Amino acid sequence: MLRYVERRPVLHFEVKERQPTERNISRLACVLVLSAIGFGEAAAETIGNLRDGLALAQQVCSQCHATVREQDRSPNPKAPRFAELASTSGMTATALLVALTTPHAGMPMFTFTTGQRDDIIAYILSLR
Ligand code: HEC
Repeated sequence: MLRYVERRPVLHFEVKERQPTERNISRLACVLVLSAIGFGEAAAETIGNLRDGLALAQQVCSQCHATVREQDRSPNPKAPRFAELASTSGMTATALLVALTTPHAGMPMFTFTTGQRDDIIAYILSLR
């Protein structure tokens, strides 16, 4: 009986201490993820360098994708033309960022710097 009475306040204290901290951490994580996505989008639309993006696309992507508007077919028929990607409805920098950072069937994973990614994304979106 005495033990029970002794333990209760301790438990109570722990629960009270922990909850807000955990909630704050996940709220912080949420804000960080959202601002990373938001920043990526803003950066791709304002900072991305089209000429560098094109150069990089020709080096790395043109083996499979049609990278310039004039090309009417991709070397790899399964890979969408970049002009097609750009004009897909709902296509945004964020969607391209997701496509570039998640594995795809038939597409290698790339290790780009954030700047290179922004350049490629800006270039693809410029084909709209
Ligand atoms: C080895 C061939 C290959 C290379 C190199 C390649 N891709 Fe792809 N990519 C593909 C194929 C195949 C698909 C279609 C995948 C599918 O439909 O599942 C694709 C799909 C995509 C998509 C659309 C993803 C979606 O969700 O619909 C994007 C965006 C893309 N590639 C961008 C790029 C960029 C940018 C590069 C260069 C940095 C690149 N790819 C290099 C083969 C390639």
